[in-house]
Amino acid sequence: MPRVAEPLPIAVLVSGTGTNLQALLDTVHGNDAQVVAVGSSVAHAPALDRAAARDVPNAVFARADYPDRDARDRALADWLEERGARLIVGAGYMELLGSPFLSRFPGAVINVHPSLLPAFPGLRAIEQALDYGVKVFGVTVHFVDEGVDTGAVILQRAVELPTAREPDEVLAALRPLEHELLAEAVRLFARGALAG
Ligand code: GRF
Repeated sequence: MPRVAEPLPIAVLVSGTGTNLQALLDTVHGNDAQVVAVGSSVAHAPALDRAAARDVPNAVFARADYPDRDARDRALADWLEERGARLIVGAGYMELLGSPFLSRFPGAVINVHPSLLPAFPGLRAIEQALDYGVKVFGVTVHFVDEGVDTGAVILQRAVELPTAREPDEVLAALRPLEHELLAEAVRLFARGALAG
């Protein structure tokens, strides 16, 4: 696949630990892509420290700081546009994005989810899968639309865990797959191999 002429400016949206952000900073950042902004829905999210440690501009857009979700979405979109972001990557971002946001980045918003969509969308995906009793778990990277994890699938990877009982056990197996697939999706997008 042809290498990129210019690293693609990307923004990463977070709400928590930030291991997916860290994986992007340690792989595609400075190569196929440049992380130009990190936006968080939660103040003091550990992911923000990871951005600061790499001098990546970062800011908090907490729902409670705005009259409504649309106002928050518009403020977040303005800030990301000002930083020149051309791909938005949801990496543990625990908020829905509405049309005021998605219409500003058409076909350029992706997300990583810890299940084999369309199975187990939304919150507590791993717990849902364990409660259902599945033996095969997985990760999905998908485009974001206005539904809950309903956008077109970009990449998926499955892992057999027939004896898994605890969410942490499953998450430990899925994390490396998330990091690999999300970086690969960014590379594909940067090289024009993905049509959103
Ligand atoms: C990941 O499991 C991701 O699939 C889910 O939230 C988690 C975030 O992990 N949406 P981290 O903050 O990137 O470590």
